[in-house]
Amino acid sequence: MTAPTTTAVDAVPSPELDLAKQTSALTVQETIPEPDTEAQDAQLPPHRSHDPQHNMKRTDPFMFGSRYLEEGDDVFEFNAWDHVETDDAYKEYSEQQFAMQRASPVSDFDKNRFNADPARFWNLFYKNNTANFFKNRKWLHQEFPVLGTVTTEDAGPKVVLEVGAGAGNTAFPILANNKNPKLKLHACDFSKKAVEVMRSHAEYNSEMMQADVWDVAGEELPPGVKENTVDVVLMIFIFSALSPLQWEKAVRNIHRVLKPGGAVCFRDYGRGDLAQVRFKKGRYLEENFYIRGDGTRVYFFEKDELARIWSGVFETVVPTDENKVGSSKTTSDPLPQDSPAGKVDSQLFDVEELGVDRRMLVNRAKRLKMYRCWMQGRFRKK
Ligand SMILES: C[S@@+](CC[C@H](N)C(=O)[O-])C[C@H]1O[C@@H](n2cnc3c(N)ncnc32)[C@H](O)[C@@H]1O
Repeated sequence: MTAPTTTAVDAVPSPELDLAKQTSALTVQETIPEPDTEAQDAQLPPHRSHDPQHNMKRTDPFMFGSRYLEEGDDVFEFNAWDHVETDDAYKEYSEQQFAMQRASPVSDFDKNRFNADPARFWNLFYKNNTANFFKNRKWLHQEFPVLGTVTTEDAGPKVVLEVGAGAGNTAFPILANNKNPKLKLHACDFSKKAVEVMRSHAEYNSEMMQADVWDVAGEELPPGVKENTVDVVLMIFIFSALSPLQWEKAVRNIHRVLKPGGAVCFRDYGRGDLAQVRFKKGRYLEENFYIRGDGTRVYFFEKDELARIWSGVFETVVPTDENKVGSSKTTSDPLPQDSPAGKVDSQLFDVEELGVDRRMLVNRAKRLKMYRCWMQGRFRKK
C-alpha cells in the first residue's frame, strides 16, 4: 500500500491517549535551533515552515502525514514527523524494556482474571471514560476510500459492519458524512456499556444504524446480519484487544458475514509502538500482549504476522501450563499446509494492502523523541 497520507493520534480512548504529553526514558542530545524569523520562514520548504499560510506545521494532532524529516532538519522544530524509522537508541531501549517486561509477567491469578471475562473490563472502561469518547476522525475516508464509495448518494444498498465499535468514534463520523439513503451501518461491540453509549448518542439514527452487542470471536453472527451480506467490515483498534487464541475465530466470522469480494478495513497497533515500550513490570501477558492498568488487553502486531493471519495461516497455539486460559505460545513462521502443528486456509482473504504507519512525536520542552507505530491494511474476501 502507499504510505497513508494522514494518521490518527486518537487511536483509542485509553490511557495511552496522553502519551505524547508524557515523558519517555529516551533523552536525545541535539542542538537547539535558533528561532525562525519571518524572512527565514518565507524561504523555508513547506514541511519546515512556521508560517500558517504556507506551512505544513499543524497543531491539530489528527491531521499529519506530510511532514517528512529530511537531512538538515532539526528534529525538535516541530511536535511530530511522519514516516520516521526508529533510531538505534530507541531500538536498543525498546529491547531493554521488552526484556524487563518479560522478566516480570502478570501473575497467573491475574492472567486468569483478565482473560476470563474481558468484556467486564471494557464495560468498566466505558463507564469511567465518558468524557473522552467522541473524536472527529477526519482521516477515515482518506485512509479507507471504500467508505467514500459506499456512502455516495447513488451507491445503492450497502451494508457496513463495524466490529469492536466502542463508543462509535468511527461509526458516527461515517453516518455524519453519509449521502447514501440505502446504507445500513451495523456497529457492534461485546461491551454492553459501549453499545449503550452508542444507542444514547444524539446522532444515533435507528433507520441507518444498528448498535448491538456482539463478540467477534463468538459462535453467533451479529444480530440482523446474515452470511455473505456485508460489503465492508471496519476493524479499528479491535483486533489488538483479542487474545491470539481468538484470532482464527474472529477472522472466520468476518469471512462469513462478508460478501465475496467484500473488504476489511483494518487499523491497529504495531510492535514497538510507544504504548508497548512504555509498559512497566507486571503488565506482560505473553509476547507482544499486555494488560493495561484498567484491565483491558492489548496486542502489538508485526506486519508479517498480520499478513499471515489474514491470509489464513493460523499458527500453532499451545496453551501453556502456567496459564490455560487465554495464554498461548505461537510459532512465528508460516506453516506448511500439511503441518500437523498448524492450519492453512488459503480460501479466506487476499491481503491487498498492508502498511506500517510510523510517526515520531517530539516533546520539545524535554528534548524527547517518542515513536508511534500503527498497522493499516485492506483485506478482501476471496
Ligand atoms: C481499543 S477499543 C477501540 C474502539 C473503537 N474501535 C475505536 O477505535 O474507538 C477496543 C474495542 O474492542 C471491543 N472488543 C474487545 N474484544 C471484543 C470482542 N471479542 N468482540 C467485540 N468487541 C470486542 C472493546 O469493547 C472495545 O470497545
